[in-house]
Amino acid sequence: MDLKKVFQNNEEWIKNKLALNSNFFDNLGKGQNPELLYIGCSDSRVTAEELMGLEPGEVFVHRNIANMVISIDLNVMSVINYAVEHLKVNHVVVCGHYGCGGVKAAIQSADLGILNPWLRNIRDVYRLHKTELNSIEDEALRYERLVELNVQEQCINLVKTAAVQKAIRHRGLKVHGWVFDIHTGKLVDLNIDFDNILKNIMEIYHLD
Ligand code: CO
Repeated sequence: MDLKKVFQNNEEWIKNKLALNSNFFDNLGKGQNPELLYIGCSDSRVTAEELMGLEPGEVFVHRNIANMVISIDLNVMSVINYAVEHLKVNHVVVCGHYGCGGVKAAIQSADLGILNPWLRNIRDVYRLHKTELNSIEDEALRYERLVELNVQEQCINLVKTAAVQKAIRHRGLKVHGWVFDIHTGKLVDLNIDFDNILKNIMEIYHLD
């Protein structure tokens, strides 16, 4: 890839934005007020704003390998805290994707060095849902289901944080679990039943 092309692309992009709205960058410079926090995978095929058709300023983004929400990851926890408590987003989305290399790596027997502790969190998801997953005979379908269950568990991890608990209770923050299907480009809402999940987990994880 010729990186000069990137800067040429950038010049084109500026022209296109200004052609549509001459105040575009003046407005961006004034600050941000996104309504959505998107937590997705770093996978190069799964863009955040582009697949949702959203513009700069509309979505606060965090991406890591396999869209994980890990309680001792200072990076994701800082993003959640800032987005929920300061930007006061109304929606938090965890978006996984079929064909996720991180999820695939987590179910293979291989020593991946520094990735081991990160991916171990996905093995924990597998252990929690072992009965359901092992009942799926087709390996590809089992792997897709693990992608979905991983999204669900990361949403639950969101709800285990004090910031999210407070925002749900005091101002109706909504948590969503989505999956991006890289084979079709379709964004799928997993329609996770949070009322039931919340009832089950809050007995133990209630903070505020
Ligand atoms: Co991925």
